[in-house]
Amino acid sequence: MPTKTESSSLRTPSARPADLPRPLHTLEVLNTVARSLGYVEGPGTPFEAVVEGVTKLLHAEGVAILVRETSDEYVCRAAQGVLGEWGDYALSSTASRLLDRFLLRDEVLIFKRTQRSPWSREFLLAAGMSWGALAPMRVRDQRVGALLVNNSHAVHVRAEHIEAFENLASLAGVALVEGRLREGLEDLYLSVIMSLTMALEAKDPYTEGHSVRVAAYSEAIGKQLGLPSATLDMIHRSCLLHDIGKIAVDQTILTKSGRLNPLERQKMDMHVLIGEDILRPIALLHPLLPGVRHHHEHFDGTGYPDGLRGERIPIEARIMAVADAFDAMTSSRPYREPIPEEEALSELRRAAGTQFDPRVVAAFEQIYPAVKRTLENLRPR
Ligand SMILES: [Fe+2]
Repeated sequence: MPTKTESSSLRTPSARPADLPRPLHTLEVLNTVARSLGYVEGPGTPFEAVVEGVTKLLHAEGVAILVRETSDEYVCRAAQGVLGEWGDYALSSTASRLLDRFLLRDEVLIFKRTQRSPWSREFLLAAGMSWGALAPMRVRDQRVGALLVNNSHAVHVRAEHIEAFENLASLAGVALVEGRLREGLEDLYLSVIMSLTMALEAKDPYTEGHSVRVAAYSEAIGKQLGLPSATLDMIHRSCLLHDIGKIAVDQTILTKSGRLNPLERQKMDMHVLIGEDILRPIALLHPLLPGVRHHHEHFDGTGYPDGLRGERIPIEARIMAVADAFDAMTSSRPYREPIPEEEALSELRRAAGTQFDPRVVAAFEQIYPAVKRTLENLRPR
């Protein structure tokens, strides 16, 4: 347990003079973070905003958000600065037990290396750190984690900094709980829509498993292109739903064993707009709409529905176009046998720059061998 000395260190003058932000600046830090909670999209996440805020507030060299993942495990999230390498690491069981005790106390704790307490042993995580602070993340009666700061020098904090630090921790807690709720809702919606997609694909043995394969290819392409993990997640979901609009296309058109006539083609092409209409009422799925609407655009502007060209086509749609075409070519269709992989790959290369984004085609060639191995058992027999 922390000693009285540790708690009293909150107001003890220390090695570094008080040069932390003044009250007005402190308020600005809080406001910036609070505003970030209002955005679903945009640069950065609420967690990043909190970490940024704490860094400014306490001149922190390392900040981490310690999230209570299960009843006995805390994981380091959004770690930055000297704590950056601890991102996604689970804390030891000793540290987790200490945090449980800390959350019951429900107040900011400051600790120093020189005090040789369990807190300094467990929570001065980076080498050369000698001063640390923890703030509880509580939302109503839920104890959801703690905000951790590490510094190599002692910091003289005033009461206003402690209060702002506590408020930032509360904001991180709200962001965490809100994010979990949103994820839960998204998963619920997605599972309903996924079952519709599965039902659609099951009706047509030629497309069974198509969306899952397109999702696997597309996510791997996105990773190869260096896209952030939130975008990869969005791409994966968009792919699972990309052809949802086919639910409204006549079954005889979907399974026709021959080329579609112009009227049938027109009806088939409507699936991108119908898909968008199906998903639009669900605000949580709005990030998926561009991929659904634009996955049949061509890089040279000759695709549909909007004839977008080049990088005006959303990246997820450019990726999906390549994955979708490759999977369609290498799968059986009512009117033809599957095309051999090498032939399909050279077809992608041939159409790079016209139908497809050349960068995406190049990335697909890189990831294809590995993804193919993973997918082999998903193909219909
Ligand atoms: Fe499609």
